[in-house]
Amino acid sequence: MATDNQRTVTLTDDSTGKSWKLNLTSGTMGPDVIDIRKLQADADMFTFDPGYTSTASCESKITFIDGDKGILLHRGYPIEELAEKSDFLEVAYLLQFGELPNPHQKAEWVGSITRHTMVHEQLIRFYSGFRRDAHPMAVMCGVVGALSAFYHDSLDIHDPRQREIASHRLIAKMPTLAAMAHKYAVGQPFMYPQNNLNYAENFLHMMFAVPAEAYKVNPVLSRAIDKIFILHADHEQNASTSTVRLASSSGANPFACMAAGIASLWGPAHGGANEAVLKMLMQIGSKDNIPDVVRRAKDKSSDFRLMGFGHRVYKNYDPRAKVMRQTCHEVLSELGHRNDPLLETAMELERVALQDDYFIEKKLYPNVDFYSGIVLRAMGIPMSMFTVLFALARTAGWVAHWQEQLADPHQKIGRPRQLYTGPTTRSFVPLDKRA
Ligand code: SDX
Repeated sequence: MATDNQRTVTLTDDSTGKSWKLNLTSGTMGPDVIDIRKLQADADMFTFDPGYTSTASCESKITFIDGDKGILLHRGYPIEELAEKSDFLEVAYLLQFGELPNPHQKAEWVGSITRHTMVHEQLIRFYSGFRRDAHPMAVMCGVVGALSAFYHDSLDIHDPRQREIASHRLIAKMPTLAAMAHKYAVGQPFMYPQNNLNYAENFLHMMFAVPAEAYKVNPVLSRAIDKIFILHADHEQNASTSTVRLASSSGANPFACMAAGIASLWGPAHGGANEAVLKMLMQIGSKDNIPDVVRRAKDKSSDFRLMGFGHRVYKNYDPRAKVMRQTCHEVLSELGHRNDPLLETAMELERVALQDDYFIEKKLYPNVDFYSGIVLRAMGIPMSMFTVLFALARTAGWVAHWQEQLADPHQKIGRPRQLYTGPTTRSFVPLDKRA
């Protein structure tokens, strides 16, 4: 197990006195890892970590999170700086290639993404199979999965060029598919992408323009939505990214793997929290109800949780939530909703919770989802579309992790084991012998 000149830890079975040396490996930042890859072969043991609270599933160079300090870096750049000074497509490039693009690289990248935003005309038919009141995330699971039936020229995932083509298509087409899901829900005609608009402007145009009249994108709103995309672009080995990695570890079709990621993101404990936060804020109604809401969130007999609060990794304020709160104020001011009652309720709820011993002791802070719904609603995005926008943005991270995993010569199919507590071996009982 351990090799010479390696830092090691020793695992000892106190009941037998047997022990094993395990290699200890350091990254460039963050906790060291204990290499247990040979544990089963050498000690006939598994580690046990439901929910993967203490498990590093892979080596990655893309994103680093320090949950105690509330730090989020993408390829070493703090999220606050990227949100303020970069744009979403530039961050998508950074996530995928590891460096910020130079002017030539950026022009090529943006040009290529822009020219891949249209979807195959036959894909439009998939939407009419859904009820108009289908949740847009159900539609996105379907249509993104359906992309796997359309592009047979980028199926060899071991060919870097074909991986690059699939990556461009995914990043480029998600806004189009997302906007189509909205248009289908509201019964308006689909709007085609416009290549003279940037990524965020194009998305807003496809969402809100109608063929009957010209639509001018508000630059404050397009800048805000671009910043929101940046804040949601990637987040290390979260549930949906881990789902994409596990699905793609079998060599599955990239579009099908992204559909799996969308399905995982949909859950209210993950990307579905932004929609759940807004529903919670609406249910709270008046600030007078906040003490009762906080009480219920602390009540172990209740399964109610303060949505948008808490995080598996952040035991400090989610740095994305700080930027989102600032964006909230900017957009609401621009739209003349300075005194949005939902924002008032959210800020009072945050104030009360952050002073409460339960939240302080358990280190529960607002996460990225706490304020995002307020700003999206103010921009006219329907609540059911909030997680679709999260999936749109997170596609940049999913694609970067998909590329990183497939480029790793040591990558293998993900296949966890288990602690088995079922029946021990027993013989079959014929039907006429059963009680
Ligand atoms: C995202 O992984 C990522 O990076 C995700 C994400 C990304 O960008 O990909 O950051 C996006 O998913 C953000 C999280 C959005 N979800 C929510 O806002 C839903 C509400 N939050 C929780 O359900 C919860 O905080 C989780 C799911 C986010 C984290 O859960 P953990 O890490 O499994 O923590 P836990 O459930 O073990 O909670 C620890 C304790 C528990 O109390 P005890 O059993 O120890 O007594 O804190 C309590 C929990 O009951 N707790 C909460 C709470 N969150 C945790 N109590 C009240 N309200 C909450 N929101």
